[in-house]
Amino acid sequence: MYDMQQKGVLMKILVTGSNGMLGEDLCPVLEDEGYEVIETTHKTMDVTNYELIEQIVKESKPETIIHLAAYTDTEKAETNREEAHRINIDGTKNIVKVCKKQNITLVFISTAEVFSGEKNKPYTVNDHPNPVNYYGKTKLAGEEYIQEELSKYYIIRTGWLYGHHGHNFVTQLLLKNPNDEIRVSDDEIGSPTWTVDLATGILSTFGKKYGIYHICNSGEVSRYEFAEEIFSVFNIKANLVKCKLDEINKVVKHPKYSVLDNNRAYRDWHIAFRDFAALADF
Ligand SMILES: NC(=O)c1ccc[n+]([C@@H]2O[C@H](COP(=O)([O-])OP(=O)(O)OC[C@H]3O[C@@H](n4cnc5c(N)ncnc54)[C@H](OP(=O)(O)O)[C@@H]3O)[C@@H](O)[C@H]2O)c1
Repeated sequence: MYDMQQKGVLMKILVTGSNGMLGEDLCPVLEDEGYEVIETTHKTMDVTNYELIEQIVKESKPETIIHLAAYTDTEKAETNREEAHRINIDGTKNIVKVCKKQNITLVFISTAEVFSGEKNKPYTVNDHPNPVNYYGKTKLAGEEYIQEELSKYYIIRTGWLYGHHGHNFVTQLLLKNPNDEIRVSDDEIGSPTWTVDLATGILSTFGKKYGIYHICNSGEVSRYEFAEEIFSVFNIKANLVKCKLDEINKVVKHPKYSVLDNNRAYRDWHIAFRDFAALADF
């Protein structure tokens, strides 16, 4: 089990990729809880540079590393496999190596894209992963390496993230001209998840048994229905057109069904989305 407090002091957590979409929401949540957060970015700690990681970790002495840094563009990962491999597999191996050497707990954020999407009910942590795209393969390779090498780890799978920082499905849609035809697939099903809810979910995992967890907002929806909800909540009349996933994604395959079984431990995605929208300034 995880020791939340060591010698009466709340633990030090090092976060990789801290200025990405999730990192921007996770770090303040951790700080608000009183954790000391060491934020590292692509610029300050490239996860492909083992010597640098070791030096920073030796100096800052974190008890936990939350590894967010990743090559996250699923389409580019298909064509730029070498780079996706270097960051998502080799980079994760570097983080695992330093965790093992320094007895650090690792929290790894993984993805619903490790599953094939052939199921029609939520994927449980016991379901067999079988990714259909290269990004999913690299994230699964990271998961497998962690399980082989470490005993103190949390692998947290999530999907369909959106937040106020960075690029995501919500901001992508809202940046479009609503009068143009906006084609969205109605045969891709997932659970939209707000980064802030994931951040609090990550925090709530601390202290639980080490292993794999699924954290996402509850409920399931097609991309098309999610797009309808986005425009409706933002009060925009958009020219939405239904299409099929295979018609728009020519380069990369995605699982058609990527809902994760979260034991209904997290609130419904509609409610989370409305809270997100109320705070949005775009
Ligand atoms: N977005 C989703 O729907 C989703 C779903 C499931 C799981 N996840 C996982 O959640 C984590 C966070 O994702 P996100 O959505 O916040 O992605 P993001 O916004 O793309 O953030 C990824 C961060 O990693 C950094 N990074 C890339 N290469 C690096 C390297 N070599 N060394 C150090 N940092 C590097 C990026 O910096 P630069 O931009 O400067 O390169 C960026 O700050 C990732 O592990 C992702 O696989 C995301």
